[in-house]
Amino acid sequence: MASNHILLITLALISISRISFAFDSRPLQDFCVVDSTGKAPCKDPNLVTADDFLLTGFDRPGNTSNPYGSATAFASVATVPGFNTLGLTLARADFAPNGYLPPHIHHGASEVIVVLEGEMEVGFITSYPEYKYYSKVVRKGGVFIVPVGLLHTVRNVAEGNSAVVVAFNSQNPGFAFIPDGFMAAKPAVDSGHLAEAFKLDENTVKDLQTKMWF
Ligand SMILES: *[C@@H]1O[C@H](CO)[C@@H](O)[C@H](O)[C@H]1NC(C)=O
Repeated sequence: MASNHILLITLALISISRISFAFDSRPLQDFCVVDSTGKAPCKDPNLVTADDFLLTGFDRPGNTSNPYGSATAFASVATVPGFNTLGLTLARADFAPNGYLPPHIHHGASEVIVVLEGEMEVGFITSYPEYKYYSKVVRKGGVFIVPVGLLHTVRNVAEGNSAVVVAFNSQNPGFAFIPDGFMAAKPAVDSGHLAEAFKLDENTVKDLQTKMWF
């Protein structure tokens, strides 16, 4: 559970970064390292050091002992202040056997997935009304891209652990987990409405709404 909380905090930090003086694409200055005092849009360049651009330990697998069997760590503006304004986010995700991320979208970025270890089934679904599912089992050394804004699935289908590195072309990719978003919304979405939309029994929806979600 702890790793889920760390993930949520990281996601929250990434969201907060949206209200900074950040923009994607082409900054006017060489860099705009986050000013930790919050007093200026960018840290004084005379105080910037190489450490502002560095993260170590990205080779270490995360702790996947949680209900999702997965752990995600970010090299992003939340962890490396030098990422600010550059339009990039990097993540490492580890998966225990059968580990996964709930189906989700990133409204702000395309996603490139590089499989470092194991075998991942990854796929995305095109928009209404086609809903075509493009999916692949991607093995170590394989690269798969998920176009911006599309629903996608990510799960480990190896017998052992799998690991991926993921790059996003935005400082704030946006994370919306579909089952979790609808079932864990606060205040709750009307259970009768969800039952109808998902073609489920209302008691099933009420039960789902009490579960622990991402
Ligand atoms: C992994 O996480 C679980 C559940 O939070 C915890 O009990 C366990 O000690 C952690 N393992 C390591 C090696 O940190």
